[in-house]
Amino acid sequence: MARTFFVGGNWKMNGTKESLEELITTLNTGSLDDQTEVVCAAPSIYLDFARSLLDPRIAVAAQNCYKVAKGAFTGEISPAMIKDCGADWVVLGHSERRHVFGESDELIGQKVAHALENDLGVIACVGEKLEEREAGTTEEVVYAQTQVIAENVKGWEKVVLAYEPVWAIGTGKTATPEQAQEVHEKLRAWLRANVSDDVADSLRIIYGGSVTGANCKELASQADVDGFLVGGASLKPEFVDIINARA
Ligand code: PGA
Repeated sequence: MARTFFVGGNWKMNGTKESLEELITTLNTGSLDDQTEVVCAAPSIYLDFARSLLDPRIAVAAQNCYKVAKGAFTGEISPAMIKDCGADWVVLGHSERRHVFGESDELIGQKVAHALENDLGVIACVGEKLEEREAGTTEEVVYAQTQVIAENVKGWEKVVLAYEPVWAIGTGKTATPEQAQEVHEKLRAWLRANVSDDVADSLRIIYGGSVTGANCKELASQADVDGFLVGGASLKPEFVDIINARA
């Protein structure tokens, strides 16, 4: 089954209006593969700004949200607010949320459920730490994280699963195409065994962790790599090359 290639840019806590406007101009005027679905995850304070400037063919995502619609939750934002700013996606379970901010599987699952109930697309992230890979527990870790996500998903149409080995994020140490393919293939088999054939065949599983213009083509050639979640390189003009990795 053909899965539309999906490339997300995760700007993280970077940029100013000035620098983001420059980046957005590069994206808007770049020649982008129209077979690739492109989403930019802006800092929440710039969601409106990013949406107002980005070409409509590029979707906007928030980098996080809370698990309920509104209330006394100082500092949090809801899926409804994200949608109100014209954004259609949210990144949930990113390793920085898990490991810098201590978000649990349970909380991430609740956020996934609430975001989907509010019709937001979810880029749900999983990935093992270096010590877990070295201990041979990569599969166990990513299956457990995926399980909690799966328990909170009723319909998978608006879900993208991002495999992001923590040791590869922001480190310049990319997983080899073989390492990425191996985990993606296993995650797809897990989905086949635990969710359904249909979801296993149709769900985009994207790779994240030090993806660059230089390594994206080889990674994109792997059968189960359906796109990327890109941090550092999404702030640079080379993001255009990554969007075009399959072109
Ligand atoms: P990186 O980040 O591309 O800078 O490694 C990826 C991510 O955190 O999504």
